[in-house]
Amino acid sequence: MDEKTLRASLRDLPLGELRYFPKVSSTNDEALAWAAQGAGDLSLVVANEQTSGRGRQGRKWFSPPDSALAFSLLMRPTPEEAPFLTRLTGLAGLAVAAALQSHGIPAQIKWPNDILAAGDKLAGILVESVWSGDVVDCAVIGIGLNVAAASVPPREMLSLPAASLEDILGEGAVPPRELVLRDILQNFITMRPLLVKDELIHQWEALLAWHGQAVEITEDSAPARRGILAGLAPDGSLLLDDEHGNRVTILFGDVRLRPAGA
Ligand code: BTN
Repeated sequence: MDEKTLRASLRDLPLGELRYFPKVSSTNDEALAWAAQGAGDLSLVVANEQTSGRGRQGRKWFSPPDSALAFSLLMRPTPEEAPFLTRLTGLAGLAVAAALQSHGIPAQIKWPNDILAAGDKLAGILVESVWSGDVVDCAVIGIGLNVAAASVPPREMLSLPAASLEDILGEGAVPPRELVLRDILQNFITMRPLLVKDELIHQWEALLAWHGQAVEITEDSAPARRGILAGLAPDGSLLLDDEHGNRVTILFGDVRLRPAGA
């Protein structure tokens, strides 16, 4: 994916500015620095390779050259959107899942930020915010998607089984990275008005992995909780009907979610 092809693919989208890097430490770090310099709404950072890609919970994110989609989209929330930013990971997840579904991949969202197909992780989302006093001035939505088989991390880096579009669609049937990126961004722009509507929660719930099934949740170093994954609260928190008959709300944070017994 060279810069010219990328710009041509995104030409018709109402984005802000684009910064493309053949190699960068982390597109989220670039986007956060750019946000501090005043980057506008829907500015975009794309890299062909990251040397220090980051995931949630301080994990490394594997982004070798020529094989993965790694990008960060800046969002300047409107005053109307600001109270709903805990839903942003869900909005981004829906945009990625819809793009994958349009290529025939039955994508699901593993709460809060992983995109799965048949139980294997295909993509991860890392939302980071820049605060100005007590309001979010800018949200950086970082997305990494395994496209070619070479982008799947080595086994020792994996916290979940992982796969790539190439593993699922087969060699020769993989859409170019810039087209997948365009689809995701187009979906995000089209779906953005949902952020302030409960319809977003309903669509997110419809794609939740293990919805209505027995799961196990570990928060920080607390003992695992077991129960039925009941759905989502209006702010995007996870609802668990635990084994004592209580409905428990699980907030975003240091959470590990697994199917029971896995
Ligand atoms: C996760 O699964 O824990 C989230 C992974 C997010 C990775 C993307 S790749 C583009 C952007 N830049 C980063 O350093 N991280 C995100």
